[in-house]
Amino acid sequence: MYPMPDPAGRSLDRKGVLDEINKFVVAALAIGLTSTAMGQVIGKAEDQIRWRQSAYHTMAWSMGRIKANVEGTYSKDQVIEAANVILAIVNSKMGALYQPNTNTGKGWKETRVKPEFFADRETPGKVAQGLGKEGNEMAKVAATGDLAAIKVQFGKLGEACKACHDKFRKEE
Ligand code: HEC
Repeated sequence: MYPMPDPAGRSLDRKGVLDEINKFVVAALAIGLTSTAMGQVIGKAEDQIRWRQSAYHTMAWSMGRIKANVEGTYSKDQVIEAANVILAIVNSKMGALYQPNTNTGKGWKETRVKPEFFADRETPGKVAQGLGKEGNEMAKVAATGDLAAIKVQFGKLGEACKACHDKFRKEE
């Protein structure tokens, strides 16, 4: 296409301009999508390891609270509180705490992540999605106060934790 002169004498090569806009949009989308899937990257390697270890321990605390409620005295409020903590963490895009330079190193302690977590391009995303699904469902079921359903969902959520640990967490 010929450049079209405009009254001000600028060259308006429409295709060229559109190409530039497209490139910009594609680049912006790529950045946008990455940050949507992964969250924002902040922190040094040892911070990222410490934060993820903290997040897992906080989920373990909350799982322990739900377990105590389904096996012992049930309090609807306590299960909701614990499920909401898990909900916040599973929706926090903590995948951002797994930058490649965090494959080894120390947070609160030496990381237990296996190298496979970084080599495998598919499974970590899948197991993380599984956690997201069951964690969101857990909060919904907790809000109903239906103890039988809470027990079932608690089991599914525990399986979602285990699915990842079996593959990607080193034994101690
Ligand atoms: C996507 C994978 C994945 C999922 C899902 C997952 N974990 Fe983990 N978990 C890990 C990895 C990897 C580590 C080791 C982290 C490290 O040391 O850097 C870990 C570590 C832990 C630790 C020990 C931390 C330490 O200091 O040794 C606990 C406790 C834990 N997870 C609990 C949970 C609970 C509870 C759930 C489910 C609600 C869960 N995890 C879901 C991957 C996962």
